[in-house]
Amino acid sequence: MHNPSDALTRHEEAEQLYRRWDKQWEQHGYGYWVVGRHDSARQLGFCGIKPMELHGVQVLNLFYRFAASAWGQGFAGEAATAVTIWAAAHVPDIPLIARVRPANVASQRVARRAGLSRAPHLDTEGYDGFDWIYVAQPERWVP
Ligand SMILES: CC(C)(COP(=O)(O)OP(=O)(O)OC[C@H]1O[C@@H](n2cnc3c(N)ncnc32)[C@H](O)[C@@H]1OP(=O)(O)O)[C@@H](O)C(=O)NCCC(=O)NCCS
Repeated sequence: MHNPSDALTRHEEAEQLYRRWDKQWEQHGYGYWVVGRHDSARQLGFCGIKPMELHGVQVLNLFYRFAASAWGQGFAGEAATAVTIWAAAHVPDIPLIARVRPANVASQRVARRAGLSRAPHLDTEGYDGFDWIYVAQPERWVP
């Protein structure tokens, strides 16, 4: 299932989104990367991390969104894996999670491909629907 919550319809919305993402890079030193191929200038999608709170705990949320024309070729899995490794090396003190809609099977597979595990006890109502939670280091979340 496609997650429609971030769909943009106007150019100004894209500019505002870019400014927010850029500000996060300035504030935290990490954020979302543009994903492409070495042999092409075409942008395939975005993948990165954003600080947020989950059940009162500061976490990094793993995000990925790709152009529909790029789906099914392993790009999201590869990018999410690279970002997860980067976060473990550069922001090791903040646990990494992913929030995925229960019907978004492709996104769940991407989270697993990046090494994350399901943590049903952390599932929660997100800002735009119920989220299944995946975590990078389950041992940090033992209740
Ligand atoms: C979710 C999304 C990033 C997946 O991108 P992708 O490039 O197609 O993913 P990949 O090709 O790397 O595939 C990753 C895994 O998902 C599986 N997969 C891909 N599309 C699938 C589908 N429609 N149904 C089931 N599994 C699917 C692949 O087989 C692969 O599984 P594997 O790791 O076991 O081999 C992409 O569909 C997307 O951008 N969707 C809209 C935004 C979104 O939902 N983002 C996630 C928000 S939580």
